[in-house]
Amino acid sequence: MVRILHFVQKPELRKYEIQNIKFELEINEHIFPPSPHGSFFAENMKINAGESVIDIGTGSGFLGILAAKLGGKVSATDNDKDALCLAEKNAARNNIHIDFQQGEYFANFKKKFDIIVVNLPQEIVHKDYQEAIGEQLTNSFDGGSDGNKQVLKFLDLAKKYMHNKSRIYIIVYTVTNYAQTLKKIIENYNARLVAFDTGPTKEFVEDNIKWYKELNEIGKIKILKIGKKWMAHEYLFELTLK
Ligand SMILES: C[S@@+](CC[C@H](N)C(=O)[O-])C[C@H]1O[C@@H](n2cnc3c(N)ncnc32)[C@H](O)[C@@H]1O
Repeated sequence: MVRILHFVQKPELRKYEIQNIKFELEINEHIFPPSPHGSFFAENMKINAGESVIDIGTGSGFLGILAAKLGGKVSATDNDKDALCLAEKNAARNNIHIDFQQGEYFANFKKKFDIIVVNLPQEIVHKDYQEAIGEQLTNSFDGGSDGNKQVLKFLDLAKKYMHNKSRIYIIVYTVTNYAQTLKKIIENYNARLVAFDTGPTKEFVEDNIKWYKELNEIGKIKILKIGKKWMAHEYLFELTLK
């Protein structure tokens, strides 16, 4: 029996208050709902009024909507058309304008942005859980066998969309080959650690703990047990061009 706790079974409305900004989001059964590490990201990203922002992999619109409420001029992409549809509805619900485009990474945007916020898939997801939730939800947060497939590709692409003062906010999560991601970041960008946290893993880690412990032992991922919970580390970095 596979437990599915992270995803919702039917549409629901969630209220948020982050960085003193109140907003609400509809969440549904087809789209990745904001997770604790999305909230950690949102609490710690720094957007100044008037800055141009792109939210890559917007999902429900969570980070982009907050960025717009903080005064950013926001564009957003997602490769899942249902996610974009929901994000558009959520932007309207919060009375803000976001320039949305469906597509991979930067879709058809050509310009340079002051800020890039990116919370792309970044977990190694056990195959039993993938089968239980189906392809659409799997694609929303599975980063392949090292957990960082989309993040590595993003790091290759992003420089083209940056000027010499642009900042990227990116999370590195340790239920992935995080050492490989960190190496790529350090080789390509100036990196400043903005925030660090240790938070609960999703249910599939505990449900397949033998397999995840093996990945931990070979040093691919980093998980640790605190009390009764399996936890992982998350690092929010601000990257600038070298
Ligand atoms: C982990 S979810 C995060 C959603 C949202 N940013 C948040 O913080 O709650 C990742 C999102 O990235 C989207 N995605 C996956 N691969 C993508 C790609 N190559 N280009 C654009 N979006 C992608 C997924 O559809 C999903 O909505």
